[in-house]
Amino acid sequence: LDRPRALSGIQPTAGSFHLGNYLGAIRQYVALQETHDAFYMVVDLHAITVPQDPAELRANTRLAAAQLLAAGLDPARCTLFIQSHVPEHAQLGWVMNCLTGFGEASRMTQFKDKSARHGSDRTTVGLFTYPILQVADILLYQANSVPVGEDQRQHVELTRDLADRFNGRFGQTFTVPAPHIVKETGKIYDLQDPTIKMSKSASTPKGLISLLDEPKVSAKKIKSAVTDTATVIRYAPEEKPGVSNLLTIYSTLTGTSVGELEQKYEGKGYGALKTDLAEVMVEWVTPFRSRTQEYLDDPETLDSILAKGAEKARAVAAETLAQAYDKIGF
Ligand code: ADP
Ligand code: NA
Repeated sequence: LDRPRALSGIQPTAGSFHLGNYLGAIRQYVALQETHDAFYMVVDLHAITVPQDPAELRANTRLAAAQLLAAGLDPARCTLFIQSHVPEHAQLGWVMNCLTGFGEASRMTQFKDKSARHGSDRTTVGLFTYPILQVADILLYQANSVPVGEDQRQHVELTRDLADRFNGRFGQTFTVPAPHIVKETGKIYDLQDPTIKMSKSASTPKGLISLLDEPKVSAKKIKSAVTDTATVIRYAPEEKPGVSNLLTIYSTLTGTSVGELEQKYEGKGYGALKTDLAEVMVEWVTPFRSRTQEYLDDPETLDSILAKGAEKARAVAAETLAQAYDKIGF
């Protein structure tokens, strides 16, 4: 049982995950549970970097866990837990805050984007330091691999820098992790503006597929996706970002290569591609929605999975934290 470790986290705040979350991150979580000792968590500590209604946060956290299970996480193959159930995250987070330069933290581009959207009065210090809490999240599990979308690459780089810094100053303590980003699906684009990533905060409702939407709503969004004015169905991300994004989604959901799809649609128009992809989408989301509902309808099972997950996670996290505290001089 000497498998490499994997760790990732996902925020519960939007209620429903979107297609970018699934293709960029969650699909990789599912794959890595076969090859890694994998830890996945719903990051509710990260969620409160912006104001949350308590009842909504609690419901969305459970909904997030239910969706992860519905997407294929298997509690027999991975450890699934809620971040706030493991207090070591906040504890190591403080240590990492004290190792990070203010200038270094200021260079995080996600913070610049998010704080620009919120305005300075609504931007919390927690939003500023959240990448540093993420460093602690990863290092606590001695993770080798961090499955994420492309937008998280900079945060994993920060994690590597801080692991090296701690190890250099106090002696070997933390594994230096690497991002696990799948080239094809690391960035899924908005359906209405295929030059920006699909995102819960930046996309318009029509540009984003919420996995828990009525299947016919998702189908309609695919059918009205923005493409270019030509008609040839070819994968060319620079020239034809809209069509290329649809081909990536189609290829990944069906396991058909992009080359095969180009052949299949030779001489056919964008309408045919969109109609078929809409059907593929409906076939994927329909069982996903019902599996999610099954977990929500059985709160005892869900609670028990999350309680066992927290217990397994804590055993690992507490050991790492004790080593780090000892090295620091606590
Ligand atoms: P969002 O970016 O919509 O706010 P999160 O920050 O909660 O979503 O992202 C959760 C995970 O999904 C992260 O690993 C992130 O990199 C990945 N992800 C988010 N959006 C996309 C996208 N459009 N394409 C690929 N991966 C994505
Ligand atoms: Na993100």
